[in-house]
Amino acid sequence: MSERETFGSKMGAILAAAGSAVGLGNVWRFPIETGQNGGAAYIIIYIGCIILMGFPVMISEFIVGKFSHSNTAGAFQKLAPGTQWKWVGRIGVFTGFLIICYYAIVAGWTMEYTFLSIANQFDGKSVNDYAPMFNELSANPWKSVLWTTLAFLVTFYVIARGVQKGIEKYSKILMPTLFIITVILVVCSVNLPGAGAGIDFLVRPDFSKINGKVVLSALGQAFYSLSLGMGCLITYASYFNDSTNIRKTALNVCFIDTFIAVMAGFIIFPAVFDAGYSLQPEDIGPSLIFITLPNVFQQSFASAPFLGYLFAVLFYLLLFVAAVTSMLSLHEVVTAYLHDEFNINRKKAATLVTVVCIILGAVCSLSFGVLKDFHIFGLTLFDLFDTTSSNILLPISGLLTSIFVGWYLDKRIEHESWNMKPLSKRIIRFTIRYLVPLFIIAIFLNQFDLL
Ligand code: TRP
Repeated sequence: MSERETFGSKMGAILAAAGSAVGLGNVWRFPIETGQNGGAAYIIIYIGCIILMGFPVMISEFIVGKFSHSNTAGAFQKLAPGTQWKWVGRIGVFTGFLIICYYAIVAGWTMEYTFLSIANQFDGKSVNDYAPMFNELSANPWKSVLWTTLAFLVTFYVIARGVQKGIEKYSKILMPTLFIITVILVVCSVNLPGAGAGIDFLVRPDFSKINGKVVLSALGQAFYSLSLGMGCLITYASYFNDSTNIRKTALNVCFIDTFIAVMAGFIIFPAVFDAGYSLQPEDIGPSLIFITLPNVFQQSFASAPFLGYLFAVLFYLLLFVAAVTSMLSLHEVVTAYLHDEFNINRKKAATLVTVVCIILGAVCSLSFGVLKDFHIFGLTLFDLFDTTSSNILLPISGLLTSIFVGWYLDKRIEHESWNMKPLSKRIIRFTIRYLVPLFIIAIFLNQFDLL
């Protein structure tokens, strides 16, 4: 068997993992959760969740990947030969496959909106035009299938090139681009005349909104945002070379992800407040990004249309870049699995994954039009993929991964290799063994209103 590829540099490893973490979750979920749950108070709780839970779980995924040098399913098999633990990895691969299918649809929309904004299609539209526009686009079967397919093809283009020449090279281009766009958008947004109220809202904590439910949802958001629970980071860590420091890499990734999420708040809220719009509970996910915000941008920049034009183009480009780098990691989980476990060469494995995903993703994308009345367990296909993966499979595989690392692997991997000070190691071990499993169970029960 040929030598396994590794990332060529420490920076490459950090940017690739940060690319996985920074995604739609940062831009379309985090700001709105912040908005509904007490502004800065929520941000403080969220950062607490990242430090106390997200960081240790990320470390454990990195350990599994780095010490097995294997894809997610292979990793469990290698570290626990002859046991049933391999199923945890397999569930992870399957979960990644489901997530990428619905994620690509949204990535497709962001691509479409990037082009629409470049073509100045929002010009002259008024508040009531945006909902019909988005509904028409998402219901149109040809457009949905086309954009979903394009999102997959972009992903395929990178993945087929391999770890160093594909994932690492493009992460090194795309992540700095994403960072620069973020900074430009923040500067534009906070300088809007009515931005003050939005900024105020983001920095003045309102702790009266914080309760157990909010904490659990912040924790769920932290896990999702860091791409934890299904082995994206296990797969990427399997490409770390021996000199990669797990702790430093995890610290960097947690920091970058949180920074971009908070900055997304500083892009969205000043503009929203400036436009005099008050966010509604339904302004979450697609409707925030594709209906509310185009209108907000149009209004906020009414006196400087060119700036408004640029703002919209950059905003959708930002979303697209964030979505694609996350898709890379999801695609890689499945591709690496086929490549390693079935000895299929990388290009063929990537092609196979892409073709199957395009077919499933395309069918799923019809959930907003032709197939909107086709329900399984009362859910459209899109919602079924989303709910099954995010609400059921992710918590299950995240829980089992932490039990695996905390209880099974703990006795078998030399602690020196953790590369950590004794006290931090003790805290992290305690978190992974007791706190993480407990909280994941709580999140799981809470989302079904059982807690
Ligand atoms: N973290 C990404 C986001 O914020 C999404 C994502 C990529 C993900 N890979 C994942 C979520 C694995 C959970 C598990 O949008």
